[in-house]
Amino acid sequence: MYAHPSIETKETQDIASSSTPHIQIKDLNVHIDGKHILKNINLSIPNNSITSIIGPSGCGKTTLLKTLNRLMDDSKGVEINGSVLVNGEDIYAKDAEVTHIRKKMGLLSQRPFPLPMSIYDNIAYGPRIHGQRNKKVLTEIVEKQLKNVGLWEEVKDRLDSSATSLSIGQQQRLCLARGLAVQPEIILGDESTSALDPISTQTIENLLVELKKDYTIVLVTHILRQARRVSDYIIFVYNGEIVEFGKTEDVLLNPKNEITQQYVKGFIS
Ligand SMILES: Nc1ncnc2c1ncn2[C@@H]1O[C@H](COP(=O)(O)OP(=O)(O)OP(=O)(O)O)[C@@H](O)[C@H]1O
Ligand SMILES: [Mg+2]
Repeated sequence: MYAHPSIETKETQDIASSSTPHIQIKDLNVHIDGKHILKNINLSIPNNSITSIIGPSGCGKTTLLKTLNRLMDDSKGVEINGSVLVNGEDIYAKDAEVTHIRKKMGLLSQRPFPLPMSIYDNIAYGPRIHGQRNKKVLTEIVEKQLKNVGLWEEVKDRLDSSATSLSIGQQQRLCLARGLAVQPEIILGDESTSALDPISTQTIENLLVELKKDYTIVLVTHILRQARRVSDYIIFVYNGEIVEFGKTEDVLLNPKNEITQQYVKGFIS
């Protein structure tokens, strides 16, 4: 059996103290329709790094990711207990404002979902919602963010074209740019390269590695090679519990726990 994960281990404390913890999860429990889906999660996720959540299908990876920006709130039958502190602020506090919390987090989902509007308007959408009306400022934001995701040269002459005319890989980069345009602190990605070809996957991976100097990035992936390529830290989730959390090379190459060992060797999928 594995060590009880409700106790924040010395290892996780060491990780947290070696760099500033940006997200702290304390005694988090999630029930859906009475089923215990996430169990006693305690975790400190450092900033300026990429942390990947890995684990078998149905173990709770997406649920864990969604609790970080209160996206689980929207699902029926969901009960969430515990706290998630972002820069020390509990996003589950009674007076916490969901719109304010979500503004801090850019979410990149499995498939790109560009808004049914032009490339320009996709990026300008968020800043407009948050009150930016100045056309010159909006145009600067659009150019900056398209450059940020390496899309500017490809689309600068067709900013008024529909975003859906872009390739899937370009759409995913556009969605990343759209998220960055509202100046989040945290980027969350749920299997965000699973619909992409290898070249687009590599582009997104390189971008995330580049972006980590300015953001805290948390990714869900079931591709261990990807987790190894991009992550600084790995969280291994099994049956709703955190079985192991540590530096990428420690968890993937030298796991302490027997279940982690079996998972990384491919005996559990
Ligand atoms: N909205 C929901 N309603 C009912 N059950 C849910 C809901 N969301 C998640 N679950 C259940 O919670 C458990 C964890 O689901 P989750 O989507 O977090 O797993 P996952 O690790 O992301 O799996 P996968 O690798 O297949 O994406 C599953 O048993 C799932 O059926
Ligand atoms: Mg999932």
